[in-house]
Amino acid sequence: AQTVLDIVKVAGDIGAEIHGADLASDLPDDTVTAIRAALLEHKVVFFRGQDLDEASHERFARGFGTPTTAHPTVPALEGAPAVLDLDYGKTTSRANHWHTDVTFVQRPPLGSILRAVTIPPYGGDTVWANTATAYANLPEELRALADQLWVVHSNQYDYAAYKPADDTEAAKRHRAVFTSVAYETEHPVVRVHPESGERVLVLGGFARRFVGWSAEDSRELLRLFQSYVTELENTVRWRWAPGDVAFWDNRATQHYAVADYGTLPRRVQRITLAGDVPVSVNG
Ligand code: SIN
Repeated sequence: AQTVLDIVKVAGDIGAEIHGADLASDLPDDTVTAIRAALLEHKVVFFRGQDLDEASHERFARGFGTPTTAHPTVPALEGAPAVLDLDYGKTTSRANHWHTDVTFVQRPPLGSILRAVTIPPYGGDTVWANTATAYANLPEELRALADQLWVVHSNQYDYAAYKPADDTEAAKRHRAVFTSVAYETEHPVVRVHPESGERVLVLGGFARRFVGWSAEDSRELLRLFQSYVTELENTVRWRWAPGDVAFWDNRATQHYAVADYGTLPRRVQRITLAGDVPVSVNG
């Protein structure tokens, strides 16, 4: 039987909630196609009240691509090699910086699928930003400059940029795991999205400096580009409930997990889909 999906925008420029899909079931092809189209259009799609476990989470993910191992440096959940278990009560480093997942490798992920396991009674929202509208909103001269630049991405954190509040022993241990093997790669600042053809900015927390520029010279221009990404009108904020699933196009978004829940437990699990090498506007 054909499933009818109800797709409702959550914010003006990014994000839609999809009703009418049971992600734990065997989804018909037309449903998968409709979800994929919604993902391309809205950049992040949300599903409420799902009943997934690690296995069905992975089965759902396989409908949209090939899951990678959980993370280049962080061990996967035992028995579930594709699942990145983000149990923030244990780790304290909370993804509260703007980033696109794993841009420090040559082929950054196509997308990520995040499942809410334990959610605090207040706080712990995640915010996504649209990097296609961010590019489109740049003044013409800045777009032309962005089109020509390349940027170095690395997983080696800039410790100086971290807030003192993150400087606990647990946060240091967590960062040590995330940076245990050094990765560095170059991407165009603007990539042509391989499916939609849109021009999108490839920046975020792992972007260190423009190729051929010093870190110091890069800083202000990186900040200026990034200010277009994080403009509130360019974002959507999701208030999680356990069982929610968010699926984002990692090629057209950045995200930020808001760390405003103190020591309350928050646990989410992510499956990350393999992506391709970003292609610049010059091919
Ligand atoms: C992530 O950065 O992939 C996780 C986001 C979150 O915990 O909400």
